[in-house]
Amino acid sequence: MAEHGRRRWQLVLITSPLQGHMTPMLQLGSYLQSKGFSIIFAHSELNPPNPSNHPDFIFLSLPDNLSGTGIFSGINQFLKALNENCRPHLEKHLIQMINTQKETSEKESIVIIYDSLMFFAGNLAGDLGLPSIILRSSCAAILPSYWIIPQLHQEGRFPVQDSFLQEMIPEFHPFRYKDLPFIGLPIQEVLDLIAMISPKTPASAYICNTLECLEQSTLTQIRHHYQVPIFTIGPLHKTSPTPSTSFLEEDTSCIPWLDKQSPKSVIYVSLGSLATIDAKIATEMAWGIANSNQPFIWVVRPGSVHGCDWIEFLPEDLVSEMKVRGMIVKWAPQKDVLAHSAVGGFWSHCGWNSTLESICEGIPMLCQPFSIDQMMNARYLSYVWKMGLEMVVERGEIKSAIRRVLVSKEGEEMRRRAMEIEEQVRVAVTHGGSSRNSMNDLVEFILSL
Ligand code: UDX
Repeated sequence: MAEHGRRRWQLVLITSPLQGHMTPMLQLGSYLQSKGFSIIFAHSELNPPNPSNHPDFIFLSLPDNLSGTGIFSGINQFLKALNENCRPHLEKHLIQMINTQKETSEKESIVIIYDSLMFFAGNLAGDLGLPSIILRSSCAAILPSYWIIPQLHQEGRFPVQDSFLQEMIPEFHPFRYKDLPFIGLPIQEVLDLIAMISPKTPASAYICNTLECLEQSTLTQIRHHYQVPIFTIGPLHKTSPTPSTSFLEEDTSCIPWLDKQSPKSVIYVSLGSLATIDAKIATEMAWGIANSNQPFIWVVRPGSVHGCDWIEFLPEDLVSEMKVRGMIVKWAPQKDVLAHSAVGGFWSHCGWNSTLESICEGIPMLCQPFSIDQMMNARYLSYVWKMGLEMVVERGEIKSAIRRVLVSKEGEEMRRRAMEIEEQVRVAVTHGGSSRNSMNDLVEFILSL
């Protein structure tokens, strides 16, 4: 345990049960543990982490009583149930820790670090007088949207009229109205959601899985707004790599298959851990991939196509034709796939982890965002960083987009941009770079609490 003078620090990390959120929390925990802090890793019963990958963490399972209230029952309902149900057990545990401290008169600081979706932990920390830090696992740009959306609503600009969707939001450069998170949800649901996840007790600091070089102007805006330290320590899969954190089993057979493909020839297709699509859209995707004549790996997560177990909705002859040139898998070792020299493009839903993973390998992207921060990430990729193409999901358009990225001058230029950004990230994560410095600053900050 980190000791400073005669004081010791216990960090209680509270993760949410989503793949794209738990991975960065585990990575953050590993880093802090390597700096001598003792880690209690609290998680819901839904999607528990694998303790054997982190033998030195103490895992605390929080009864969640979610029975049937999955994320697909509606985000507000899911988050409300998750937060209400996880609170009592953590509260009991923290009170016990505080009482033990008093009895033993040990000088120990308890610091709460919580995923922004587990907002009950921030409220609880406030009630118990403990310092709390928020981990943001998506792009930093989602934070300003929490105060800009209510402001737009007051001014009659949200919900957005169709004729404004393509317009730039003047106070939120470079985003358009259509890039705002929660754009398709009913307005009251959006306002309730923002109110629900906004901390009632101000956090002592924010940790963002991002980099100064990627989101500089947004970070300036956030620092000005919150007036607390904002640590930019990303990309965590590079600054603090951990063993696989996948909830699903990775199909590693795609790696030896990739070994047999030509350099930069393969399109990797994955829509992440949450997005779901209609069979009609998935069928367009299949035809587009097949017609592109490029080798591919297509991840179809079981249950991600409405009403289907897996790919039984695809015509058998199409599947046989596709298998000549590529692989359809249920879940891939994504970071290894992207790091493979045969992969030349990533068709993605633009989840933040996927975006960072692609950037770190200098891989240009085809952008098919679905929800939350993904439209903003896609905007960064296509408009700001110029290493991504916005997709139209129709077989002819898909075929041409895949070929534009893999075998055209335009694709070469996108790859050049991606590699430039990869280089900036490499500098940021090496000794003396912005992310490394921020990690050191974070440790100093925790020790000052
Ligand atoms: C969503 C959001 O879009 C994201 O920005 C937000 O912060 C969390 O919720 P998700 O759908 O999980 O995230 O996407 P993403 O953030 O990209 O994370 C997916 C993770 O799963 C990545 O780390 C990726 O490497 C991994 N993955 C995905 C695999 O390991 N194998 C696969 O086949 C697909």
